[in-house]
Amino acid sequence: MSNFNARYSQSAARLDASADDSAWRVHERALERRRAGDDVILLCIGDPDFDTPPLIFGEALGAMRAGRTHYSPPAGEPALREAIAEIESRTSPHPCRPEEVVVFAGATNALFAVMATLIDPGESIVVPEPMYVGYTPIFQALGIEVLPVPLLAEQNFRLDIPAMQRAVRPGTRAMLINTPGNPAGNMIEADQMADLAAFCREQGLWLICDEVYSMITFSRRHTSLRAAAQRTDNVVMVDALSKSHAMSGWRIGWTVSPEPLAERLARLGMAMLFGCSQFIQDAAAFALRNDDVYVEKMRLEYLARRDLLVAGLNALPGLRCAVPDAGMFVMVDVSGTGQDGLAFAERLFDAAGVSTVPGVGFGPSGRNYVRISLAQDRATLARALERIASFLVHP
Ligand SMILES: Cc1ncc(COP(=O)(O)O)c(C=O)c1O
Repeated sequence: MSNFNARYSQSAARLDASADDSAWRVHERALERRRAGDDVILLCIGDPDFDTPPLIFGEALGAMRAGRTHYSPPAGEPALREAIAEIESRTSPHPCRPEEVVVFAGATNALFAVMATLIDPGESIVVPEPMYVGYTPIFQALGIEVLPVPLLAEQNFRLDIPAMQRAVRPGTRAMLINTPGNPAGNMIEADQMADLAAFCREQGLWLICDEVYSMITFSRRHTSLRAAAQRTDNVVMVDALSKSHAMSGWRIGWTVSPEPLAERLARLGMAMLFGCSQFIQDAAAFALRNDDVYVEKMRLEYLARRDLLVAGLNALPGLRCAVPDAGMFVMVDVSGTGQDGLAFAERLFDAAGVSTVPGVGFGPSGRNYVRISLAQDRATLARALERIASFLVHP
């Protein structure tokens, strides 16, 4: 036994306290049973099931062979920053300079840097819920208080602007929105974002928008916060290739922000990362410039899966799901079965070996829901629907 009295930082202690995550228990059990060889269907995780398109893969290999395996500038490789700035300039009335772009190791890393640069421990941020689970550890690590605002579940999880405004307290520094949204697949309308950006600006608040599902939309094209906002000096956009390009494991994302913030983000990036891999950034720049075909192919497949799942679920007794406008998930209201999402997910898994995430894991407004991921092929989703149907008949 060691007699060393190990002390950890308050940040580590806050993360320890968050380690118990009962909403993911079903998923953990599903992984265990799969390892043991059982026939389980995993509908929990939002990691694209597609392989990274071979052209991108080839580009990375070529870059590696060409010796692009050294340090890169802390703010990112110029070619990637330029490719991103060009897209931003094309999709928004506000021209974007490469100096406003900073490259990070995925959206998570980018979000961490943004929060750490804008918000001190003890200060707060307004965030709609249900929200992406990955935000919580960031807030906890940094000691940021979250002021959650329910999305309007009955209006397909529409953002409630007056409620967002009312949530601001002394010590609030920012709002974080996510469009298209995880878990609800909601898209925030341009005029809502414009209003919120103007309100935040008046109040001296930053408005941060996580747009990692921007290319997986079904009902209409994505409008970015930068495109919607009249002024951009208080807005920050975070995006990544993880979802749209099936590149979650490549760990590549970025921020677009006013230049003074970008400089500070790059300094923090230098402290914690010292530059992303050159060959990955080369492949990312290539991916963004050549993505017309394969992004569309994946989008259409997600759309077909969404339609299959929504129609199948709505035909089952006690289940109800609205049609998500975008993203990789379907939120299913299970209250008609007389159970909440947590009980439903546990029982469904026990009885039928189908794992879903209880909606409460994303916030209290998700209590009556389970989230189902579209990152499984249609045959698997059809099998899952059959199992769910027989579970509902013989629970
Ligand atoms: C809304 C949202 N933001 C960020 C992320 C994380 O993105 P990345 O893998 O690029 O860190 C996810 C992943 O599920 C997500 O759903």
